[in-house]
Amino acid sequence: MSDLAARLRALPGFPEEMPGLDPDSVPADPAVLFLGWLEDAIASGARQPHAMTFQTLDGGAPVGRTLILKDLDERGLHVSTHRSSRKGEQLAADSRAAMTFFWRESGRQVQVRGEVVALDEETSQADWRARPTYDGAPNLDWQVYALQPEWWEFTQSRQDRRHVRIGYRREGGGWVHGPVTTPAG
Ligand SMILES: Cc1cc2nc3c(=O)[nH]c(=O)nc-3n(C[C@H](O)[C@H](O)[C@H](O)COP(=O)(O)O)c2cc1C
Repeated sequence: MSDLAARLRALPGFPEEMPGLDPDSVPADPAVLFLGWLEDAIASGARQPHAMTFQTLDGGAPVGRTLILKDLDERGLHVSTHRSSRKGEQLAADSRAAMTFFWRESGRQVQVRGEVVALDEETSQADWRARPTYDGAPNLDWQVYALQPEWWEFTQSRQDRRHVRIGYRREGGGWVHGPVTTPAG
């Protein structure tokens, strides 16, 4: 094993105390579970609990970067960026995207995937105006997008590595959910 590999292996892992996740008592609506976990992350005092990795497709190849979650409503999970950015152009070419949240203080991960839609101009400009650097000028390149979830996976890590994972997928007008039992690390 290289020196780097040995040092990485020796780094501290999950916290001693982590919440549980009971597959039999999760909410039917994954957004409810997500909002509960987000509230926990906010309450923990962790910096930028609303930051996540946002993955798009660049000619079929995945590419991720960190973005801030701006809102969650019936339209989906909101992010904002420049329409002319690489991610904006990637979304114009292929609207599929994914988000990965990781809250290390609780050993929790949320993955969500779906189609992204561009929201209306007023929503985008309201987000632009709310930025701390707003100087009074509108920005017509600014765009709020909403990811409309089709698939979620929630992971609650455990010290013994028997992580609990719950998957949700859209079926008809609602959601079906259940434990995910494929191998995990
Ligand atoms: C903590 C953090 C939060 C960020 N939030 C945003 C964001 O909300 N919107 C955004 O456009 N870029 C944000 N960025 C910058 C992006 O990660 C990225 O570098 C930039 O948007 C260009 O991405 P692209 O070239 O893939 O389009 C953030 C970066 C960091 C480190």
